Amino acid sequence: MKIGIPKEIHPGERRVAATPDTAKRLKSFGFDVLVESGAGVAAEFANIAYTDVGCEIAPDARHLWADADVVLKVRPPTADEVEMLREGGTLISFIYPAQNKALLDQLAARRATVIAMDAVPRISRAQKLDALSSMANISGYRAVIEAANNFGRFFTGQITAAGKVPPAKVLIIGAGVAGLAAIGTAKGLGAIVRSFDTRPVVKEQIESMGAEFLLLDFKEDGTGEGGYAKPMSAEFIAAEMDLFRKQAKEVDIIITTALIPGRPAPKLITTDMLALMRPGSVVVDLAAEAGGNCEATVPGEKIHYAGVTVIGYTDLPSRMASQSSQLYGSNLCHLLDDMGKNEKYRVDENDEVVRGALVLREGRLMWPPPKPPAPLIPQKPPEAAKPAAVAHKPKAASRGGHHGPPAGEPGSPLPLLLAGAALVGIGLGAPKDFIGHFTVFVLACFIGYQVVWNVAPALHTPLMSVTNAISGIIILGGMLQVSGAPTSAATILGAAAILLATINVAGGFLVTQRMLKMFRK
Ligand code: NAI
Repeated sequence: MKIGIPKEIHPGERRVAATPDTAKRLKSFGFDVLVESGAGVAAEFANIAYTDVGCEIAPDARHLWADADVVLKVRPPTADEVEMLREGGTLISFIYPAQNKALLDQLAARRATVIAMDAVPRISRAQKLDALSSMANISGYRAVIEAANNFGRFFTGQITAAGKVPPAKVLIIGAGVAGLAAIGTAKGLGAIVRSFDTRPVVKEQIESMGAEFLLLDFKEDGTGEGGYAKPMSAEFIAAEMDLFRKQAKEVDIIITTALIPGRPAPKLITTDMLALMRPGSVVVDLAAEAGGNCEATVPGEKIHYAGVTVIGYTDLPSRMASQSSQLYGSNLCHLLDDMGKNEKYRVDENDEVVRGALVLREGRLMWPPPKPPAPLIPQKPPEAAKPAAVAHKPKAASRGGHHGPPAGEPGSPLPLLLAGAALVGIGLGAPKDFIGHFTVFVLACFIGYQVVWNVAPALHTPLMSVTNAISGIIILGGMLQVSGAPTSAATILGAAAILLATINVAGGFLVTQRMLKMFRK
């Protein structure tokens, strides 16, 4: 099966759908990979880098589109490109089906099968092929770099021989994937970072990245479907803008990322707020393509307004073409890996990830996908019904007309009776000393069991420290016992106790060490 990687022809687009590294992975899956000559040049990947990993080079777009069974692309295809797609061929690309009806009709006329990378459902299993997140992550990072490049001062505070330099203050509006990446980058450069989002769930994420979450005293939750934001009331937006107006006087850089799927971006930074900012401040508007969060934004341009630089670039991932091609190419590899490698490749409609992203199947419109069934929430039995259920249980367990549970099943009295009889036997026959020790042993087993089994998993590490302490006491006790005759029961038990407790202590340290390592960089 042949995979084709054409050169992107959208003006200014530098990304490519496969890098030599991801093409090599596709080859290892068993696919043949055909790359259009010069497809990777703008992302710093020459033809030779592809041929070195076993790819073929197609001399031009026409050969590539005609030869490939599956075409991998970044931007939605143009009308001319669709004309070159093989009749009944497959295309995997960003498509934006909601905005591109005419494109879908044209692709349907060629009986194409089309998978939209922008429509991959945002569920945990699909994170590795979530191209929107990969690109948003790069946009967030690059937004800070653009801001730093256009800002005339340091981000980090410094104390030098010449004097003290205060750190830059950065406000990030919207803490989705791009916003969080921007927070991380701005913090990394040493700035003081604040952030605001309409979804209160992100407060912890913002704080865990070392930024301050700006609080708004307004009871309205912006969490919408699928983790995205929903439109807020006019009152909320007004209160939020008051907050930004106050911030505008204090901060040096504002990065806006506020988006609501399928709607124009909310206007949150007005021109009067820009006038309040210090001259030399920078606004980077990541929502520019959706109309912009800032009133002064010109999509695709950098402008100056009242002494403030307003950046509305809409090609931030393309400005880091090598990195974004690598991440996007990896997302595509994960998708093809999940769909089945080479001859096992198939478009499985039962796979919720593939179904979610499937836009056309042999020309048949498959988009939008059916809504996934709502998760089953276990019904809590009404309080009054509880005693009846309990009373019913033994009956269900009884078999062949017996009343009460059969011997050996939980709740059966037989094991208890046997244990009781054994205890009476021991009590009658054993020496007096032994009974005292034995009682302590039974109680210790009972308490030990309760202590270990009833502890919440989150507390297992502190629990391990306590059990290590107990193991230490056991080792001391064992050492006192082993000094007797080598074959006596006390010596053997003492030695066994030392061995087991030592394994417990050493094992505990080893496990703790490995857990700590996971948190270290
Ligand atoms: P997005 O690009 O659609 O929106 C960006 C941010 O703007 C969101 O955090 C949103 O709450 C915020 N926003 C909207 N209106 C606002 C306003 N008026 N003021 C301030 N902030 C506003 O979102 P993105 O980055 O695509 O992802 C949003 C969420 O989706 C993530 O935080 C996560 O919960 C979920 N997600 C899940 C994934 C998965 O499980 N595979 C992958 C990626 C995202």
